Amino acid sequence: MKEANPLFDKAVRPRHVAIIMDGNGRWAQARGLERAEGHAEGANAVREAVTTCREQEIEYLTLYAFSNANWQRPSIEVEALMRLLVEFAEKEKAELRENGIRVNVVGEIEDLPSHTRRAVEHVIDYCSDGDRMTLSLALSYGGRQDIVNAARALAVRARAGLVLPEEIDENFFHREMTTHSLPDVDLLIRTGGEARLSDFLLFEAAYAELAFLDIMWPDFKEDTFIECVRRYATKERRFGRTSAQVAQEGAKVFQPLRPGSEG
Ligand code: FPP
Repeated sequence: MKEANPLFDKAVRPRHVAIIMDGNGRWAQARGLERAEGHAEGANAVREAVTTCREQEIEYLTLYAFSNANWQRPSIEVEALMRLLVEFAEKEKAELRENGIRVNVVGEIEDLPSHTRRAVEHVIDYCSDGDRMTLSLALSYGGRQDIVNAARALAVRARAGLVLPEEIDENFFHREMTTHSLPDVDLLIRTGGEARLSDFLLFEAAYAELAFLDIMWPDFKEDTFIECVRRYATKERRFGRTSAQVAQEGAKVFQPLRPGSEG
């Protein structure tokens, strides 16, 4: 990776970028290739996106690598994706660690086949000292599922008298979710030409700027990523207030999710 060289001031660049990496299958089919080959090329685009984020000093990158609905795909494709994750973990771990990149999983890591799970847990452990950037992989992830699981966990604690209903606010609730260590999403990018969220980070992206791109994920390169960040940097984020209030009060009035806050 090159030295960090952010093109945008910290005050205007996103702190947390999340990406729905859609279009691997169509990219492959358009070239007469198997869908799995599209995913393999997609893994190269993942490498480039991680590098760009690190160079642009974006602190959090969250990638939708496998949804809980993706288990319904043909087993040959699911197996190819699980293999790619192992390959990614093994091949990239040294560079991730050298660059201070912590690895994290959101979703249900327990659902993964044991070989994939072990490889992912190993890279998490190997890179756990990273303090420059957090790469989160959404694996067997569903946004509604994460919300419902958190609600259930709180209901169980409330029934046992360990939580008072009036204690539950947005931050308290967020601490029960698998995304608890992540701040609010600032910029959510989706490739592949569709303008939908597909159950990704429904709670965390409440105020995210959305960028829907027509290109397929394997074609997502550094210049496109930087263009998305440049556009984000020009947006005024009002969080429900008027433009005049934002000018007067600044962004500080809005209380975003506080990752990992305890107590
Ligand atoms: C959606 O495209 C993509 C996925 C379900 C998997 C994303 C996986 C990767 C980019 C590669 C592996 C990831 C890592 C982190 C190494 P699609 O298959 O639905 O495309 P289509 O809509 O064109 O069929």
